[in-house]
Amino acid sequence: MKKDQVSRRSFLQSSGLAAVGSVLAAQISSVSAQDAVSTDVTVPAILGGPKAHKSGWKGWPQWNAEAWTPKMDAVMKSRNWSRAGKVSEFEKKWADMHGVKHCLTTVNGTNALSAAWMQLDIRPGDEVICSPYTFSASVFGVLYKGAMPVWADIDPMTFQIDPEKIKEKITPRTKGILPVHICGYPSDMPAIMEIAKEHNLFVVEDACQAHLAEIDGKKVGTTSNAGCFSFQTSKCLAIGEGGAILTNDTDYYHRLYSYHNYGYASGTTPGQISSITALILANKIRMSEYQAVIGLCQLENIEEQHKIRNENASYLSEKLSAYSGVTPVKFHKSGTQASYYIYSMIYNTEGLDGLSREQFIKAMEAEGVYVGTGYPNDPIYTQPFLHEVFKSDIYKKFYSEDELDFEKYKQRNHCPALIKTFNTALWIGAQGVMLGSKSDMDDIVNAVDKIHNNVAKIKTV
Ligand SMILES: Cc1ncc(COP(=O)(O)O)c(C=O)c1O
Repeated sequence: MKKDQVSRRSFLQSSGLAAVGSVLAAQISSVSAQDAVSTDVTVPAILGGPKAHKSGWKGWPQWNAEAWTPKMDAVMKSRNWSRAGKVSEFEKKWADMHGVKHCLTTVNGTNALSAAWMQLDIRPGDEVICSPYTFSASVFGVLYKGAMPVWADIDPMTFQIDPEKIKEKITPRTKGILPVHICGYPSDMPAIMEIAKEHNLFVVEDACQAHLAEIDGKKVGTTSNAGCFSFQTSKCLAIGEGGAILTNDTDYYHRLYSYHNYGYASGTTPGQISSITALILANKIRMSEYQAVIGLCQLENIEEQHKIRNENASYLSEKLSAYSGVTPVKFHKSGTQASYYIYSMIYNTEGLDGLSREQFIKAMEAEGVYVGTGYPNDPIYTQPFLHEVFKSDIYKKFYSEDELDFEKYKQRNHCPALIKTFNTALWIGAQGVMLGSKSDMDDIVNAVDKIHNNVAKIKTV
């Protein structure tokens, strides 16, 4: 059966890798222990030498039981489990940390994004220009509004949506832009906001991977209509599940609040008897108190962890620049800090005398360094969920047959730099690696060095 003919039953039963967390988890579990047969530290582990990295990586998420379990316990004992003071406290802290007026928490990042689009004036027939280096959760909200996602290719050196490609996709129907700060690197928000201003467009940032990343000293998620975050377990602020929307627009914030709480008046607290008048068509996507208290605990360390990741990344990038074949992903001109949710590189087979990316990854894994290829070669604009949406009555009503012809849609939206990136990306994660010590970073460089010096032999394995 072809991918876009997938039946509802098989669609619901398949367990494809969607979120980055699961991609990384799969990669980590595939690492097998190598038994060293040589003590010569210059011999790659895949050829029987000792591993470059033996000590293991830090675990994630982190929990300081002594300091934090009593705080969790207090919430549980309070019997106040639904949204209350802890949620508000977390929202205030997240907003203050970003220097924005409002933060609204949600159950997860997917719903933060969807809520953000739901409360903007986007309608069926409108177009939203989206970054394609992502997965389905980024764009669900655009589709809930009946709008048409249009995909603008990425810059293969930064992995971020290319503002020049956005310009090429603007039409009189364009109403919004959806940049995704993928891998935690900042998208070029100054250029994107300039385009948005010129064409009067909404911008919702998918900052689900980009906690505390910065552009010209300003944090991502703060300069558009809405910056949306995920606090899923693998993320730089881990709650298990959780999300947030940042905005400086007070009216929009009140609509979002109402939307996340059954459509009741903004500020209504759960359980208020007077609150059952729904003002807008809504949802219920409130964060719970026990989620918020985990978030508040994690906030205690987030800045220090961010600093460590950035220091490690700068160190790694400088050291790795000596090796052909692995090029660290770059910032666009105004990017200043990444979250380094994933440290990303571009692999070039020629730079390693024809060693394939898969062979390189196997050799790195043998050294004890987890490296992945990132999202599989399955462009978002070809995926069945979009085809399903195109068959709906609402899409048939507002779009021509030609626009909904899925083969033509795929061709129109083809993104060559994205496809190239699927085949050349290297992702180093998860959290434990980038939170390691300087000597852990040296182990990574040493692993690359060993592989570099022994390509011919590794190719025969
Ligand atoms: C880029 C991106 N967008 C959206 C999401 C959705 O966030 P959540 O898993 O919290 O729903 C994620 C998280 O996996 C993500 O990585």
